Amino acid sequence: MNNLNGTYSVDKFIESALYDKSYGYYSKKNPFGKQGDFVTAPLISPLFSEMVLVWVISYWINLGKPKEFSLVELGPGNGSFCKTFCKNLKKFPSFENSIKIFLLERSKKLIKIQKNTINNKKVTWIKNLDQIKNGPILFFGNEFFDSIPIKQFEVKNFSVYEKFVNFKNHKFNKFIFKEVSAKTLKKLKKLGLLRKKGTIEYPQKGLEILESIVKKITKFDGGILLIDYGYLKAQGNDTLQSLKSHKKNIFYNNVGKADITYLVNFELLSKFLTSQKLFLNKIVNQSFFLKKLGILERAEIVSKNANFKEKADLYYRLERLLSEKKMGSLFKVIFASKNKTNFNLGFK
Ligand SMILES: C[S@@+](CC[C@H](N)C(=O)[O-])C[C@H]1O[C@@H](n2cnc3c(N)ncnc32)[C@H](O)[C@@H]1O
Repeated sequence: MNNLNGTYSVDKFIESALYDKSYGYYSKKNPFGKQGDFVTAPLISPLFSEMVLVWVISYWINLGKPKEFSLVELGPGNGSFCKTFCKNLKKFPSFENSIKIFLLERSKKLIKIQKNTINNKKVTWIKNLDQIKNGPILFFGNEFFDSIPIKQFEVKNFSVYEKFVNFKNHKFNKFIFKEVSAKTLKKLKKLGLLRKKGTIEYPQKGLEILESIVKKITKFDGGILLIDYGYLKAQGNDTLQSLKSHKKNIFYNNVGKADITYLVNFELLSKFLTSQKLFLNKIVNQSFFLKKLGILERAEIVSKNANFKEKADLYYRLERLLSEKKMGSLFKVIFASKNKTNFNLGFK
């Protein structure tokens, strides 16, 4: 049972619904896989994580094979990505000697699951980024940003109103809209989010986290690779979505029992990272990125000794990752780094 009673901004509401210690979605259950509410790319096929491993190794080579190199995975979920990553490290001994892996996860429940799944001495769980003391560092997040609460605003008659969710006796009652202050207007304008009509989505918390990541990159060298579902140009849509047992749910219902996410604004991420003086490659979609890394060639090798059923399963999973109608084009990939580099694997 949730303890919601009163009025909450959308981000405060999502924060409680997902992360409250007693009833929050991520605090209580394992949402991943068939028995859960959704699947992500590392759970669909290990080839996804293998391709990211190839990318990370190439990045390390491009940096001049530093003797110490840190990878920070942001929001590791059920640990699938890291498990595949670690399993394949053995094939690359000099990289394995250099890399340290850190996992940043806020859900205690998921940390337990990750520890069981990954079971590898190279991996350290961290509570915050202060625990990262040297570099270069590569931050990696798959579907990390879409799980960080956002604020929502509606624009009506050229005025901007923040959206609030009102709860009565633990149940949704109504939405409330409050006109924003001049200070908030200025902030939205500065980020290029102001528009004439429709919905504005502002990932305030996400940008705060990104800022602390950028500080580490600027200090110790390195970069950030993010994969998430999202768009390149804001259309003024309300993109909040909620899933329960793989089915659509209205986001204010089933509090704590359903996942809540939104589409990531990649134009905003790109502008923000550039404003923080990082260098950016162009943004590409997941299908482009994975194909450039050789996922189809890898699938061919893996399927050589597979029987018909295994082959069918492998290509069915690949199709989910790559198809334009599925994850292939909705998911985008962005990479930003401290130094301007000609390293453009996966992006060109
Ligand atoms: C949608 S899941 C993605 C999981 C995983 N990356 C995958 O691809 O399967 C989001 C993950 O981010 C974690 N998370 C959300 N906000 C976080 C924060 N501020 N710090 C650390 N982890 C966070 C969640 O607990 C969860 O593990």
